[in-house]
Amino acid sequence: MLVGLDPADDAAVYRLGPDQALIVTTDFFTPIVDTPYEYGAIAAANSLSDVYAMGGRPILALNIVAFPPDLPPEILTEILRGGAEKARGAGVVIAGGHTVQDKEPKYGLAAVGLVHPDRVMTKAGGRPGDLLVLTKPLGTGVIATAGKQEKVKPEHLSGAIEWMLHLNDRAAQLAQEFGVRGATDISGFGLLGHALEMAEASGVGLEIDLKAVPIMEGAKEYAAAWLFPGGTHDNRAYFGQRVKAAAGIADPDLMLLFDSQTSGGLLLCVPAEKREAFEWRATQMEQAVWFIGRVAKGEGVGVS
Ligand code: CO
Ligand code: CO
Repeated sequence: MLVGLDPADDAAVYRLGPDQALIVTTDFFTPIVDTPYEYGAIAAANSLSDVYAMGGRPILALNIVAFPPDLPPEILTEILRGGAEKARGAGVVIAGGHTVQDKEPKYGLAAVGLVHPDRVMTKAGGRPGDLLVLTKPLGTGVIATAGKQEKVKPEHLSGAIEWMLHLNDRAAQLAQEFGVRGATDISGFGLLGHALEMAEASGVGLEIDLKAVPIMEGAKEYAAAWLFPGGTHDNRAYFGQRVKAAAGIADPDLMLLFDSQTSGGLLLCVPAEKREAFEWRATQMEQAVWFIGRVAKGEGVGVS
């Protein structure tokens, strides 16, 4: 076992031989959007994200499905079609799965990927002097909640859906090209929760520059209206004490950094001397990257 539960990471990694290791992970959740096809595709992108966060390439997956018997079966067909097409786009074969009855639909994948044992990226790989890079903007939690309350502008919701549908494949490839070893993906715990996990696993402190953090279009409006999902409130309650926020940061702005994300981007620790080459290569690959802070000696996460 190269990566297991102690400490836990985005996925388990099991060494098969001198130059191959297996990555295994699973994730599933209730509908985040109204369209079954998009829900399926987002859930699949989200499940594969943990393979990319370990520096791997997903190859194979199984569907995990819960579905109410009183809903039309066409809805399930659309969810599975969304998942299958997203997986195919990632070069992943869905080779089966299992469905149970439940009151609320749930969908996701159990996914398997491959990585070279020397090239595994973990939450423990951050080093003082590294720069922090984020590859998708924040805001899916607050925008989806505005959507559920029918307070969202259609263009803001479709923007968030576009980001959630986006695979982290190129972000992982870019990280691998630059020898990145510290990485995680941003999901339910929000940027600050996942940053804290990384700080603790790496034995370092992370310093985040609030102005540099990308926020999805519309998210600030819904943050000002305090339309955060339950998970975002939980994140702040759970992680808040270990985050040192500079005086004068507006509450909605800080809350956005705790916002619970679905299919979020990768958070990467990039050696500072590689910044220019990294940015140049990202542009060439059409992969968005934002430099949002740095890794320092110490502990916890600071926001200023
Ligand atoms: Co993860
Ligand atoms: Co996960």
